[in-house]
Amino acid sequence: MPVIAIIGAQWGDEGKGKVVDLLAQKARVVVRFSGGDNAGHSVVNPYGEFGLHLVPSGIFSSQVVCIIGNGVVINPGVLIGEIEQLNQRGVDTSRLFISDRANLIMPYHILLDGLEEEARGGKALGTTRKGVGPAFADKAARLGIRTGDFLDREALLERLRSIIDYKNIILTKIYGVSPLSLDEVYAQYCQYAERLAPYIRETAIMLEEALSRGELVLLEGAQGTLLDPDFGTYPYTTSSSPLAGGGCLGAGLSPTRLTRILGVFKAYCTRVGGGPMPTELKDETGDLIRERAHEYGTTTGRPRRCGWFDAVAARFSTRINGFTGAAITRLDILDILPRLKICVAYQLDGQKIDYFPGNVAALARCQPVYEELPGWQAPTSDIRNYDQLPLEARQYVARLEELIACPVNLICVGPEREQTIHKTPIL
Ligand code: GDP
Ligand code: IMO
Ligand code: MG
Repeated sequence: MPVIAIIGAQWGDEGKGKVVDLLAQKARVVVRFSGGDNAGHSVVNPYGEFGLHLVPSGIFSSQVVCIIGNGVVINPGVLIGEIEQLNQRGVDTSRLFISDRANLIMPYHILLDGLEEEARGGKALGTTRKGVGPAFADKAARLGIRTGDFLDREALLERLRSIIDYKNIILTKIYGVSPLSLDEVYAQYCQYAERLAPYIRETAIMLEEALSRGELVLLEGAQGTLLDPDFGTYPYTTSSSPLAGGGCLGAGLSPTRLTRILGVFKAYCTRVGGGPMPTELKDETGDLIRERAHEYGTTTGRPRRCGWFDAVAARFSTRINGFTGAAITRLDILDILPRLKICVAYQLDGQKIDYFPGNVAALARCQPVYEELPGWQAPTSDIRNYDQLPLEARQYVARLEELIACPVNLICVGPEREQTIHKTPIL
């Protein structure tokens, strides 16, 4: 009954989609457990190239049951669009299921995400404006509408009526925008309900049954550890927990069930949106990485901020998640660089520190202390065996392994499934 959680170890976009698609070939269940369609998971495989936002990246393996867990907030229109696009491209989605406990993203969440960002002015968080933050806020405030509510139209109408009245006061009185029409929102959500009802299940039971049959289950993380609302760069974070602990909650699984926790790290760092990033490169090297790696968001198309590998943050991430192993992605992007830097400590207010500060203002004052390593300046995309990597590339990976304090299981050298080096077994 092995369960492997695949967790973003940095600021998101580490390549979780690629790793899940790869490992799903041997799995029977894949569960998305957090976030919403703020996530964008790119997968390149024999079916083509895909950018998934809600559907788990295991959907391409015909034996895999894919579950959107209770911890996800679902924009039903986006999900329906994604299912239709996959079907048009020949991908079977009949093994997709949705937890009846997942909260829905409603039109007022999307409106408020944008209005709140604009109200923050220069202090905007840089959210994806998909309504994810407001939907999780409503979940905590017990003002959410859940997928299970789709199954009872009368109850849905009653619940929507009381909530929309309250939201319309905020929209009109605080932000001075037009109110939403109860009838229109209800009619639209009834259409969504019609389309999605066949997918809705008590999915935690399905998971339990799969485990009792001894099947391999993957938990697919969204976002990254440093965007966690507790342990990330608060308030420049997302609104649900991308951590391994969040995986148990968001899938409906006991923590004792986790067999392995795989941290996915890029061979360097990127971040989209606001908030401190100590190793950010605002120079030609940063631009070079961005263009070579096409570091633009899968969800919003925004340019990603690029920088050197931050081992202080990485070690923190290993500790807080309990990574049993790591996947290092995008090693090939560094192929052309003559010298590489790794941040091994921070300089904070005249003192050298080796921990990741919890206070965002302190983190913003941290200056990286770098260690330099020689680059390999040779192509790695076609390499499949660790021993065939250039010596300097092996030295770089070995140093990362030492600093992040867990064994490297996988090294990715390109976006395609096969462009992967299996360094040590995960299980
Ligand atoms: P996710 O959100 O963690 O799933 O990551 P994204 O899909 O948003 O961003 C990762 C990007 O890197 C995608 O465009 C992937 O296709 C790509 N990718 C993943 N692994 C590798 C790799 O080893 N090399 C290269 N060149 N691209 C990769
Ligand atoms: P994947 O799963 C990268 C970032 C946003 C913003 C902050 C808050 O593809 O790794 P939100 O819309 O969640 O309220 O935005 O979080 N963010 C991500 N950055 N990858 C993601 O997901 C992200 N999901 C949210 O850019 O800075
Ligand atoms: Mg992404």
